[in-house]
Order: sequence, then structure tokens, then C-alpha cells
Amino acid sequence: MKLPSLSLRSRIVIALIVLTLGTALALSFVARSFLDQSLNLSINDEVRSVLSSALSVAKTSYNDHREALRRLGERLARSPEAVAAFHSGDLPRLRRLVAAQEGGERVSEVEIVRFTAPPSVAAPLARDDLMEALQSGPYLYRDERQGDLLRMLVPVRDGGRTAGALSLSKRLDPTYFTIEQAAQTYEDIRLNNEQALRWALFYAFLAVSFAVLLVAALVGVWIAFGITHPLRDLIRGTRELARDNLSHRIPRGRSDEIGLLIDSFNRMAADLQENRQQRVEAEKVAAWREIARRLAHEIKNPLTPIQLTVQQMRDKYPGDDATYRRLLNDCADIVTDEVEGLKNLVRAFADFARLPDLRVAPTDLNALIDEVRRLYADAPLTLTLTEDLPPALVDETQMRRVLINLIENAEDALGEGGRITITTRNRREAEGDRREEEELTPHASRLTPHAFSGWVEVEVSDTGRGISPEHLSRVFEPYFSTKRTGMGLGLAIVKNIVDQHGGQIAVESQINSGTTFTIRLPAETKMQQSAVGARSAVSLNG
Ligand SMILES: Nc1ncnc2c1ncn2[C@@H]1O[C@H](COP(=O)(O)OP(=O)(O)OP(=O)(O)O)[C@@H](O)[C@H]1O
Ligand SMILES: [Mg+2]
Repeated sequence: MKLPSLSLRSRIVIALIVLTLGTALALSFVARSFLDQSLNLSINDEVRSVLSSALSVAKTSYNDHREALRRLGERLARSPEAVAAFHSGDLPRLRRLVAAQEGGERVSEVEIVRFTAPPSVAAPLARDDLMEALQSGPYLYRDERQGDLLRMLVPVRDGGRTAGALSLSKRLDPTYFTIEQAAQTYEDIRLNNEQALRWALFYAFLAVSFAVLLVAALVGVWIAFGITHPLRDLIRGTRELARDNLSHRIPRGRSDEIGLLIDSFNRMAADLQENRQQRVEAEKVAAWREIARRLAHEIKNPLTPIQLTVQQMRDKYPGDDATYRRLLNDCADIVTDEVEGLKNLVRAFADFARLPDLRVAPTDLNALIDEVRRLYADAPLTLTLTEDLPPALVDETQMRRVLINLIENAEDALGEGGRITITTRNRREAEGDRREEEELTPHASRLTPHAFSGWVEVEVSDTGRGISPEHLSRVFEPYFSTKRTGMGLGLAIVKNIVDQHGGQIAVESQINSGTTFTIRLPAETKMQQSAVGARSAVSLNG
């Protein structure tokens, strides 16, 4: 039979309970055997025999005392002097007689008891019962009123009736009672309570074990909850990802291994989300490119026939209506202009649609920028070029297009007195490079991990009107333009080219204060330089 699969939490709790239960059971057996041993030690035969011999010694001594007291009493009862002293109430004489009779037995006290008045010595019997008991001889009892006394009442007869009694008392050794009590207790334990004691101790132990078990179970639940709660978060997180909710993140809130796991999960989700964005972007560009290609194709073909037809209509007009001829000329000019505009549009679309074949070579970007600047002799353009710029691995023609597009946009945005600045930087040795990379990401295409170790950075910034925040995220989209005559393809082409170089582009802008486009391109490394050198050496030799 297959066991039903349990949740992790139940497993941990069950494991802990089984563990504590097992330990408690094992411990209870050990405790039980210890208990038995110690009880056996205290209730064993040796102790018992010692106790019973002590008891019998004590009993013998007690009996001896009793016998001596009885003999003395009988002797006194037979002595006429003692009877006379009893009747005359001569206690000193009685004492003397007792001392003479004693013969080694020391009697603590002698007293006279008469039954005419209430008896002066308290006995465990009522007066009549006591008198009846005394009919048959001396009466012996234990008197605990003034310490522990063994008291004997010896009847004194007057004619046939009992006139009273002589009370002889002897103080007993208290050890006797102690021994008797101990023997009794011991017997009680041995006979009745031993088993009960065992069970009582066992139950006490069981109660403590149960309390420990309860605490262990609670602690188990707590630990299990601590582990499984974040795991549940993680499971929920993966479900969200599976459901295509890539923006789901798990709050971290702890710094242990589970915290690290949550970090990894969040990083993975972020990567997935970014990859998704890139793919969507790439698909969008591809779709636009396809539209542009078809548009260019469909529009381009009829343009030349339209232009030729209109020119023919104008040239072949045979009439001499001057007004109509002027109208015809104007119309032909308008059509020719519009067709020219359409041709430009088609050319732009075609440019965007065509995937340029990159011919990458180490290029001096400073020189290229300087060359492009000459095309804009009238523009307020400043260059701040670093001298220490490694060659960039770029396609020169495509980079020229990039620069031209950026400069034209900047020019369009400039107001009176504004300036455009182009800056180059070497990022190869710059510190905190990784940080900067991350700063570039918001509106940048993602870096592909390349074998090169450095970057060449080109910055085109202007002090123009800037871009509003809601437009900023859209400027690289094809066909996004805020200009009346703009095609909205310039920056889409720029980004496309930079992406193809494995580079990055980012934009920063402040409304009414200016815009900066930053491009990073792979720099040629020393390793690549030496590889190129080796190749040329080979070709020279060959
Ligand atoms: N330097 C800049 N300053 C302010 N806005 C800019 C700047 N560069 C681009 N933009 C904004 O980005 C939009 C898109 O630019 P993009 O170059 O792609 O298209 P365009 O210039 O409008 O048309 P074209 O296809 O002719 O270049 C522009 O319409 C403009 O609103
Ligand atoms: Mg433009």
C-alpha cells in the first residue's frame, strides 16, 4: 500500500513527535528500572531483618520491665505493711517499702488510688470496668499523659471487695516506641504501598514526559512553519511566473539560506522579465521592418509613372489658353513635389527595412565625428574629444548615420542660442564600470556579454527643448514622432545600429533644459589588437 504523500510541515512535526516520544519511552524504561533498584535497596531483606531484630530486642526489654513491675506489685499486695500503709494513706512509708522490695528494679513513682472518690489515676477504662478488671489481678497499661509511663494498678482488698489500688509506674525508654513505629511503617510500605509508590513515581515521570512532548510538538510546529512559510511563498511565486506574471517578486525579510533562495528567485524573475521585454521589442521592430519594406515596395513602383504622366500632360498641351496652361504648370509642380516627398519617404522606409550588413573594423571615432562636423558647418556644435580613445569596433558608414540622426534631432530641438556638444570618453579603465552599466539600462538596449573588456562612449547632448517623460520611453519606437514632417524612424534606426554592434544607447532629458544621448560601443582590446597584428604578419609573409 502506498502512503499518502504528506506536506513538509506535517513531516517535520511528525518526525519531532516520534523522536521525543521515542526518547521519552526509552527514558521511562531507564527511570523505571532505576526506581525499582532504589526501592529494592530500601525495602530489602537486610533492612527488614535488622529492623525486626531491633524490634524483638525492644520487645524483650519491654516484657522484662512489665514482668518486674507485675512481680513487685504482687509482692506489695501480699505485704500487710503495704496494705496498712495504703489504708492509713502513708505515702512515704509506701515509698520506703517499695524501695526495699524493688531489688534492682527502679520504680519511678508509687501512688494510692481509691475508688471511693473518682480515681486519681486516669486509666483507659471507666471506673466500674477498671474495678472489674482489678478483681482478677493487677492491671497494666501505658500512660502517655506525663511522658511515656508503664503503669501497673495493683488491687488492694478490704475483706471481699476491692478498696482501691496501688499505682506503680515506670518511665519507659522512648527508643522502644521509635523502633516500633519504624518497624510498623516499614511493614506498611512493604506490604501495601510498595506497588502504589512505584506507580506514583512512574505516573509523575509520565506527566513530565508528556509535558516535554507537548513543548517539543509546539516547537516543531513553530520550526516547520518558519521553514515552510517562505517555501509556500516561493511556490506561489513560481506559479505566478508560470501564469506569465513576470513582475511578481517575493518580499525577502530574512538573511538565511532561504533568504538567498528568495533573492535568486527574484533575480531570475527579473531576468525573465527583461528577456521578455527585449523579445517583445525585437518582435515589434521586426514587424515594423516588414511593414516598411512592403510600403516602400508598393509605393515606390507607381511613383515614376505618375511623375512622367503629369510631365507629359503638361508638355503635350496643344491649346493656347494661358490661364489653363498656368494651372496645368502649377498642378504639375505640386504633383512633382509631392512625388519627390513620397520618394524620400520610401527611401527612409527602405533604409529602415534593410538590415545593414555590418562591416566592423577598428575605427577612430574622433576622426569620424570631426568629419561629420564638417557637414554641419553652420550649426552651434562643440566637440570635446578625449585624446586617449581606443579604436571602436564599428561599421563606419552606419556610425555616420547614427551621428547624423542624433545631430539633426538636436538641431531640430534647439532654440535661440542653444548649443550641441559631442563628447567622447574612454571607459576601458574607468572604475565602477558595472555600476555605470546598470545606470544605462533604463532606456538602453541590453548589453550582450562580450569578450571585450572596455567601452568607447559617445555623447551627443543639446540644450534644446527636451523630451517630456511620457515621450521619453517611446523615442526609440519606429514611427514615433512629434514633428510635423518627421517620419519617426531616425532614432529607431540609430538604436537598431547600436544594438547590432552589441552596444548600448541611453537617453536622459529634462524638459526645457536639454537632452543627452549616450552611446557605448565595444572598444578594441589589446588582445584583439595583437591578434589583428598577427594576422597581418601572416598575410605579409604569405
Ligand atoms: N534631441 C532631441 N530633443 C528633443 N526631442 C527629441 C530629440 N531627439 C528626438 N526627439 C524626439 O523624439 C522623436 C523621435 O525622433 P526620431 O529621430 O526617431 O524621429 P523624427 O526626428 O521625429 O523623424 P525622422 O524620422 O525624420 O528622424 C522626435 O519626434 C522628437 O520628439
Ligand atoms: Mg530624427
